[in-house]
Amino acid sequence: MSIKAENLIWKIGTKTVIDGVSFEAEPGKLLGVLGPNGSGKTSLLRLLARLKRPHAGRVMLDGQELSSFRRRAIAQRVAFIEQHATTNANLKVIDVVKLGRFPHRSMLSGWTREDDTAVNEALERTGMSAKRDDAWHSLSGGEKQRTHVARALAQSPKELILDEPTNHLDVQHQINLLRLVSSLPMTSIMALHDLNHAAMYCDRLLVMQAGRIVASGAPEEVLTQRLLRDVFSVDAHVETSPHHARPHIQFVR
Ligand SMILES: Nc1ncnc2c1ncn2[C@@H]1O[C@H](COP(=O)(O)OP(=O)(O)OP(=O)(O)O)[C@@H](O)[C@H]1O
Ligand SMILES: [Mg+2]
Repeated sequence: MSIKAENLIWKIGTKTVIDGVSFEAEPGKLLGVLGPNGSGKTSLLRLLARLKRPHAGRVMLDGQELSSFRRRAIAQRVAFIEQHATTNANLKVIDVVKLGRFPHRSMLSGWTREDDTAVNEALERTGMSAKRDDAWHSLSGGEKQRTHVARALAQSPKELILDEPTNHLDVQHQINLLRLVSSLPMTSIMALHDLNHAAMYCDRLLVMQAGRIVASGAPEEVLTQRLLRDVFSVDAHVETSPHHARPHIQFVR
């Protein structure tokens, strides 16, 4: 069951930003959230991570209403990498990643071997081990982004929510990150703009337009020439890639 959204509505002033969104993320799978700028992707992810409360509708985690969870219980299982994440500049990389363990620690227990293992694994998986002692402010944009991913992994979440996590990454690190996220055992929901990457790595896709879901399903069901024209206003050819058997989009010049 994992994450389910039921008829979510979220407004700012008189503007309805999320307008009746319902879907279910399959456990252990990677769900991609697509849509033009301003379509509501970030707003939806923030509702799922309880950074915002819906005006109507509800989010369910394993069949239980998210609003009934204590904040700490949510932090123990839901990790969220924000689109424009910020971090205290005085920390070292390792300290930032260690923050991911915070929800799991109690007043009584000290730093445990389990905490160490989670942090080291997270640094390793994101390719940040060699920079573990570097100062946060000395990192490049992409290294900062990978450190945020490492912090989320160190949190050992059951649900991982990522808002455009490949921003700032070079092509090698984009691919590494997408491979990593698609291979993780937890339920993951990721907003992204690169439609070919979404086709290659996501198990299912949702497409948002003006706060509503206008398409959902497997990549080959969703990424059609017609949808690209209607929702993204681009002309494109969609073929099945001979290399990975997923849709491959070639935009018309
Ligand atoms: N705090 C806010 N104040 C005012 N308007 C907001 C706020 N948050 C979101 N909006 C509006 O809600 C709409 C959806 O924004 P959102 O950030 O969810 O879009 P998005 O799909 O993530 O876009 P992008 O692809 O640019 O990241 C936009 O029109 C935005 O201006
Ligand atoms: Mg956004």
